[in-house]
Amino acid sequence: MKLTGLFATKPIDDYETEAVSEHLVRALGAPALVCFGIGAVIGTGIFVLTGIAAAQHAGPAIVLAFIIAGVGSMFAGLCYSEFSTMVPVAGSAYAYSYATLGEFIAWFVGWNLVLEYMMACSVVSVGWSRYFVQFLHDIGANIVPASLASAPLQATGMGLQLERTGAFLNVPAVFIVGLTTALCYWGIKESAFVNNIIVAVKVSIVVAVIVFGAFYINPAHWHPFIPANTGTYGSFGWSGVLQAAAIIFFAYIGFDAVSTVAQEAKDPARGMPIGLLGSLSICAVLYVLMSGVLTGLVPYSRLNDAAPVVAALQAHPQLSWLRLWVELGALLGLTSVIITLIIPQARIWLTMSRDGLLPRVFGSVHPRFHTPHVSTVITGVAAATFGGLLPIGLLGELVSIGTLIAFIVVCIGVLVLRYTRPQLKRPFRVPWIWFTAPMGVAFCGLMAYSLPNETWWRLGVWSVIGFAIYFLYGYRNSRLRALETTSDRSQRVAQRG
Ligand code: ALA
Repeated sequence: MKLTGLFATKPIDDYETEAVSEHLVRALGAPALVCFGIGAVIGTGIFVLTGIAAAQHAGPAIVLAFIIAGVGSMFAGLCYSEFSTMVPVAGSAYAYSYATLGEFIAWFVGWNLVLEYMMACSVVSVGWSRYFVQFLHDIGANIVPASLASAPLQATGMGLQLERTGAFLNVPAVFIVGLTTALCYWGIKESAFVNNIIVAVKVSIVVAVIVFGAFYINPAHWHPFIPANTGTYGSFGWSGVLQAAAIIFFAYIGFDAVSTVAQEAKDPARGMPIGLLGSLSICAVLYVLMSGVLTGLVPYSRLNDAAPVVAALQAHPQLSWLRLWVELGALLGLTSVIITLIIPQARIWLTMSRDGLLPRVFGSVHPRFHTPHVSTVITGVAAATFGGLLPIGLLGELVSIGTLIAFIVVCIGVLVLRYTRPQLKRPFRVPWIWFTAPMGVAFCGLMAYSLPNETWWRLGVWSVIGFAIYFLYGYRNSRLRALETTSDRSQRVAQRG
C-alpha cells in the first residue's frame, strides 16, 4: 500500500470489510429509497425560495432555472449512483473522496457535508417554524408569541457579528428538531415508515396545486418569459436565470442522502440508482410543473413572499380551499426533510469516526435500535441550537455551496477511479463518463460561481475552522496514518533485521 501523507487514499476493500462489522440493519427496499430521496428533497426550495428566485431574478424563466439546477444534479446523481453501488457504505461523498482523492480532500468534503446536512436542518427548522406560526394563525390559534418564535440573535456586518433581537428562543424550530431527532434515534425502519407517509401526503398536495392551478393559468403572465436584464448582474436576463438556478439548487439538495443509507439498503446494487435517480427525476418534474403553474397564476412580481404558493392561490378565490392544505403540506414536507437530513449526518460522522478523523463516540451504534445514536443526538442538539438561537438566514446559500463542492468532488472522484482502478466491479456504470462527469463539474461549478461573493467569503471562514479541527484532531488520530507509521516501522525493522 502506497501512502503519501495528507493525500493518502483509503483502500476501497477496507470499507467493505468494516461495513460488515457494523450493526446497521438492511431494512430499505427500492420504493423506500425513492421515498427517502423525495422526503429529503421537496421542502423549503419549492415552498419558500421559488418566490424570491422568480420575483427578483428570473421571472417566469424560473422554470429554466429549475431545469438547469436539475440537469446539474442529474449529472452528479449519475456519479453518486456509480460510487454508491461500488462502495455501498454510510460515508457517501466523504468515503468516495477518501478512496480516490485522499484524506485531506475527504476531510474537506466531510466538513462541507456538515453544511449540507446539519446546517440545512437548522435552515429548514426555521422555515418550519414560520409555516407553523402561520398555520396556527390561519386556524385562529395564535398561541405562540413572536418572542418565542424567532431567534434571540441576529447577524450584522458580514454575518460574523451578533446582536440581540429581544426574542427569547425559536421554540417551534427547537421542537421540530427534537421530535425528528427522537424518531431517527429510535430506528431507521420507523423513520422510513413515517417518512413514507409524509411523502405520500406532500406529493399529493403538490400534485393538487399543479392540477387545480392549471385551470386558472393566464398565459399572458408568461410574457416576456425571460424579463430583460435591469443592468445589474443577476437581476433578470440570462444572468438572472443563472442566479435563480444557484438559489433554487437548494430545492434539489437531499437526493444524495439516499447514498448515506447504502449500508441499510436491502440490495444496494439495485436500490441505490433507483433511489437516487428516481427521486431526483420525480422531484425535477414536479418542480418544473409547479413553478410553471405558479408563474402562470399571478404576475411573477407577486410571488415575492415567504409563502409564494399561498400568495399565488390567494389571487384566485376558487383555489382558496387549497391554502390550508398547502400550509399542511409545507409543514409535513419540511418535517420529512429534517428527518432525512439528520439520518445522513449521523452516518457520515459514524464513518469519519471509524477512520479516526472524529472521536470514537461518534461511531457508536445503539445495541437495540441499531442506529448511530450518539451522532444522531449530537446532530439534533447542534441543529436545534443553530435553529433556535442563531440567525440562519445567511446559511441557506452556504448550505448550497457546501453541497455543490461535494457534488463536484464526487464527479471528479468517479472519473479518477475509472482511470486508477478500471478493473473494480461496478454494478452501475455512469454512461459516457468522459462527458457526464465533466458536465457535472461544469454545471455545479457554474451554479457555485453564480452565488454571491459573500457566500464564498463565508465558505473560506468555514473551511479555515474545518482545517484547524483536522490538524488538531483528525491528522493526529487518523487510522490510515497510524497504519502508515506501523508499516514504515515494520519495514525499517525488516531492513535492519
Ligand atoms: N431540498 C430541501 C429543501 O428544499 C433541502 O428543503
